[in-house]
Amino acid sequence: MKGRIEAIVGAQWGDEGKGRVVDSLGSRVDIFARYQGGANAGHTVIVDGTKYVFHLLPSGMLYPCKTCIIGNGVVIDPDQLLTELRELQDQGKDRARLIISGAAHVVMPYHKLLDRAQESLRGKGRKIGTTGRGIGPAYVDKYSRCGIRVEDLLDGDILREKLEYNLEEKNLQLTKIYGGKPLSFDEVYEKSLQWGKAMGPYVGDASLVIDEALREGKNVLFEGAQGTLLDIDHGTYPYVTSSSPIAAGGCVGLGVGPGAVDRVIGVVKAYCTRVGEGPFPTEDTGPAGERLRENGGEFGATTGRPRRCGWLDMVALRYAVRVNGMSSIALTKLDVLTGFDRIAVCTAYLADGIRHDHFPSGVSLQEKAEPQYIYMEGWKEDLTGCREYSELPAQARAYVEYIEKTVGVPVNLIGVGPGREQTILRNF
Ligand code: IMP
Repeated sequence: MKGRIEAIVGAQWGDEGKGRVVDSLGSRVDIFARYQGGANAGHTVIVDGTKYVFHLLPSGMLYPCKTCIIGNGVVIDPDQLLTELRELQDQGKDRARLIISGAAHVVMPYHKLLDRAQESLRGKGRKIGTTGRGIGPAYVDKYSRCGIRVEDLLDGDILREKLEYNLEEKNLQLTKIYGGKPLSFDEVYEKSLQWGKAMGPYVGDASLVIDEALREGKNVLFEGAQGTLLDIDHGTYPYVTSSSPIAAGGCVGLGVGPGAVDRVIGVVKAYCTRVGEGPFPTEDTGPAGERLRENGGEFGATTGRPRRCGWLDMVALRYAVRVNGMSSIALTKLDVLTGFDRIAVCTAYLADGIRHDHFPSGVSLQEKAEPQYIYMEGWKEDLTGCREYSELPAQARAYVEYIEKTVGVPVNLIGVGPGREQTILRNF
């Protein structure tokens, strides 16, 4: 019997609550696999009242005896990874088996310096609002074919050769273009060798492990980071991250054929948020947006930045359904909408007097998009104790069913609070 693959992807601008969805589905999963991004992500999981924030480790690390994979598509900041592992060890929670693809790229110290230097050079107006974690520069090196991969950290000679070339070039950039200080070869080389030693026991062939597990009938979960509208190709370019958070990214970032993916679960927050710069048609900068931020605790898990908040955007959601091949929706944070008299939902955009039912390509149109709203009746009841769909107030059910009808995808999971148990499953 062949096992199943389910992909969990962010349907908006990230921070949809993917970590908690992965965690609440965890008991039926054998392998949790991250496929892109790096320590820019912040996946929050709350188990038995304790909060864990993972930037690099898959959210499944809290399940004992499971396998967690960091795929070739991820860019790894070894200091961050080793810190997360150490913290889990200290709490006695390092009970999952971790496999790191040797083909994953390493975020080197110069990548972080370059990320920050490039952002400050861009200045106001052209800034992307990156997390400063070196993500863009690390992917640049990957695609310009000079990047250092995890497997290179295990071989002192290869590492030396690659690092010499990279450091010569990066030090020129840092000093001549950005007016910074050069990095010392010896320091970076020594540090990299130590990383290699610490990470060596975890290095393996992620693609092969997944293939063998599927043949044994095991279930695999692809764990996306960020979201569809931050995708390098399909997002609001250039205000995006440097990887492919969409479901297809899972195949590339783990070495799995596209036909093997059985179900794509889009994680949709009941409203929208965005961190960093870039178009956000349904952003509400008034009291309603402020209230969403307060009620939803909308502050970045990685940078602590307040998130921009606004209403659910069906134009963007239809687009996310299309580019991910989404077959199921996990709707999170429905409880945050409690107490609003009415809830706005964007059904179309107007830009230059033209109506757009489909998400427009190009940042200039996206920035001009004026949301066209319908208003749905709100509810006052506290949802956080609901465990069955029938326990939700009629207005909340109407909201869920409106989403399903409009995008033609079932809402199979509803989050009514941050805890693992605060989950309603519907025909899952
Ligand atoms: P970078 O990924 O650090 O290069 O940042 C590029 C853009 O993606 C910025 O707008 C970030 O705020 C955004 N971003 C990166 N990671 C996340 C995330 O995990 N959640 C939400 N936004 C993110």
